[in-house]
Amino acid sequence: MRRLVTDSIQKLRPYVAGKPLEELARERGVTDAVKLASNENPLGPSPRVVAAITQAAGDVHRYPDAEVFALRKQLAERLGVAPNEIVFGNGSNELLDLIYTTFATPSAHAVFADPSFVVYGMSALAHAVPHTTVPLRDHRHDLPAMLQAVQEHTSLVFIANPNNPTGSYVTRDELTSFLERLPPDVIAVVDEAYFEYATAEDYPDTLQLRGLHERLIVLRTFSKAYGLAGLRIGYAVAPPELCDFLNRVRAPFNANSLAQVAAIAALNDQDHLSRCRELNAAQLQRVERGLAALGLSVVPSQANFVLVELGRPAAPVFDALLNEGVITRLVPPLPDALRISIGTAEENTRLLAAMEKVLQ
Ligand SMILES: Cc1ncc(COP(=O)(O)O)c(C=O)c1O
Repeated sequence: MRRLVTDSIQKLRPYVAGKPLEELARERGVTDAVKLASNENPLGPSPRVVAAITQAAGDVHRYPDAEVFALRKQLAERLGVAPNEIVFGNGSNELLDLIYTTFATPSAHAVFADPSFVVYGMSALAHAVPHTTVPLRDHRHDLPAMLQAVQEHTSLVFIANPNNPTGSYVTRDELTSFLERLPPDVIAVVDEAYFEYATAEDYPDTLQLRGLHERLIVLRTFSKAYGLAGLRIGYAVAPPELCDFLNRVRAPFNANSLAQVAAIAALNDQDHLSRCRELNAAQLQRVERGLAALGLSVVPSQANFVLVELGRPAAPVFDALLNEGVITRLVPPLPDALRISIGTAEENTRLLAAMEKVLQ
């Protein structure tokens, strides 16, 4: 029989999502669990979003606005970019895939860090694109080493800033120097899924660095600080030439109608965004300190999660935390670490108490 898939797809393993609350209830009878596994916004969406999608629900028999006109206009104004410099996606995840489909082939090459967002590697395999992973250094992107990993055929370099699963970030100076040195042919993809959460003074807004490297794609999402993960909407900001090619390949209607109205409502409730950011900043500090007080090593984070090094295999701790009704996330490349999302004050109290109990 002819082979069904390429060698590359043969190597691919399905994405492992955070364990859903329903599954824990089914498997272990834990019905009051807290989910700190998928870097979601624990405050949920703005009430304005709920009102907007409720109102729009009766129109779901219509296809969405293929041009994403209203959201595009509003977002372009907010970001100070032209409307034709934005491409929307079914989550920024779809855009990562679309970037590979559009700009890479099996004779190209991609570079990204290890560990970083798993989709960079999954999509490379799905598209049979050879790739080089560059180990983090002290849990941070090693941008000089990533520059050295760029080869003649490299078409894509991915930088998650802040990085998932570490929460670490590259500074404005580091990114500036990287973009200035990156060969002009190479597309730099700066994935800012957690942009709205970052508070460090030297954390860069990559949209301000667009003059440094022409082939630059900035990815952002409504899934995290805006609390719309379930609706799947993210966007890329890139020069019109790149957007034009992405639009040729993109599936029609990939930004669904409820997501479009929800994203507009979310942008129009900046007070809610501020509350989400403030809660995260305060609780992040509390969780970092609380875990450190238990003798754990916590990587300083600019996102809405932390990477915790347990100094022992993480799987039994993960499992014991499940029994306490706290869902965290294993990080396969780091067998002694857990990734833990920042929850509400009450959820984090549960986490810290459960961790203390489990470690004893
Ligand atoms: C670094 C990074 N990029 C992209 C995504 C994808 O987000 P979404 O597809 O929900 O926009 C995530 C989600 O966890 C992420 O951590």
